[in-house]
Amino acid sequence: MSVSQLAREIKESPTLVFNEKARILRERGEPVIHLGSGEPKSKTPFDAIMSCTATLRTANIHYTSTEGIPPLLKAICRYTEEHYAKVIMPENILVSSGGAKQAIFNLMMSIIDPQDEVIILAPYWVSYTEIVKMVHGIPVIVTPEDGRFEPRFEDITKAVSSYTKAIMVNSPNNPSGCIYSDELIAKLVDFCETKGIYLIMDDIYHQLYFGKTKPVSVYKYSHKSIDNSKIVVINGISKAYAMTGFRIGWAIANREITLAMRNVSAQNTSCPSVVLQSAAVGALTGIQSGVESLRLTLENNKNIMMRELRAFNGVKVREPQGTFYCLPDFSAYSNSSVKLSNFLLEKALVVTVPGGEFGFEGHLRLSYCVSISDIIEGIARIKWALDLNSPNEIYIGERKMRRNWK
Ligand SMILES: Cc1ncc(COP(=O)(O)O)c(C=O)c1O
Repeated sequence: MSVSQLAREIKESPTLVFNEKARILRERGEPVIHLGSGEPKSKTPFDAIMSCTATLRTANIHYTSTEGIPPLLKAICRYTEEHYAKVIMPENILVSSGGAKQAIFNLMMSIIDPQDEVIILAPYWVSYTEIVKMVHGIPVIVTPEDGRFEPRFEDITKAVSSYTKAIMVNSPNNPSGCIYSDELIAKLVDFCETKGIYLIMDDIYHQLYFGKTKPVSVYKYSHKSIDNSKIVVINGISKAYAMTGFRIGWAIANREITLAMRNVSAQNTSCPSVVLQSAAVGALTGIQSGVESLRLTLENNKNIMMRELRAFNGVKVREPQGTFYCLPDFSAYSNSSVKLSNFLLEKALVVTVPGGEFGFEGHLRLSYCVSISDIIEGIARIKWALDLNSPNEIYIGERKMRRNWK
């Protein structure tokens, strides 16, 4: 076998697996509805386009220093001050060329020794476990009880051992849409600072919250200066600015870890592209109305998705407080979320992502970052496929479909 043992242990991304199946069906002309989407379809902000085309027009596109271009570092300092009420220096910033995902990878490369443990709170974003394994660490999963999405502080601390290097927190959370309580974050900051454990906050969705439940700035509870702190905040332009294709993300950390992360970058990618960094500067310093407009659209879509799901027999759903996902409980229909997702794609031509991949079996992750008509029709098709009390005929595209299974 020429593939390394480590590479063999890394799971295929479930979203990409279902995207591929959907692509093949669409190519055959099938009217697939994609409720697996992990990105806003809005256009790139105008200021980002202007800024990166201005850079392109110079025709002077070369390496930058590994740490990134000064205007981007300055923009991230300002962003952190504005959104987190925290003053940081450029030396506290890693800019990554592979989105927030690569910032997390570089961080793990910089803090994890073989066999170190990282505590991951379920339901969790699928890449955390794989990234930890890729740096020879061990993911330790803490799952909340009784179907809740926020684990109890006591359960998290019970999972801590002498090998624990970090606790990974993602709030607003992919896949549940849950925002962890301020109380939990405060306790985690205190605990990690006392024990000397890294607290990693993946804040990629922090601007995409609904109603009054705004995610708290982790620094509010920290008693340490940034350079003495083991808090690391991950962020990027992918979600709030609908700029997934630009692949710029960052990590905010103490200088020592930032330097280590930059060394990892220097040997891995040299530097992020100057064109894409310029786009990020445009997004962060330009007009911000696109973010608010996306937030309001998502909130409206979430309300419609909730309305449709609440009228669905047997499905239990907790209302998301942010992101563009929800994680309803479909265990009344199947305990195997992979089987259920495959069944729904085959019979109803609807893409969903199996909850088991996020450490929450019996659930499906549904995205409402799609059109309202896709939300309504997607849920109607799922209902037709699963709820035997619903009418047994439905139109899918031009075709009248009859339910002939039990
Ligand atoms: C929780 C979470 N963190 C990080 C990322 C990665 O973001 P990026 O596209 O900037 O790499 C995602 C993307 O889906 C995510 O859901």
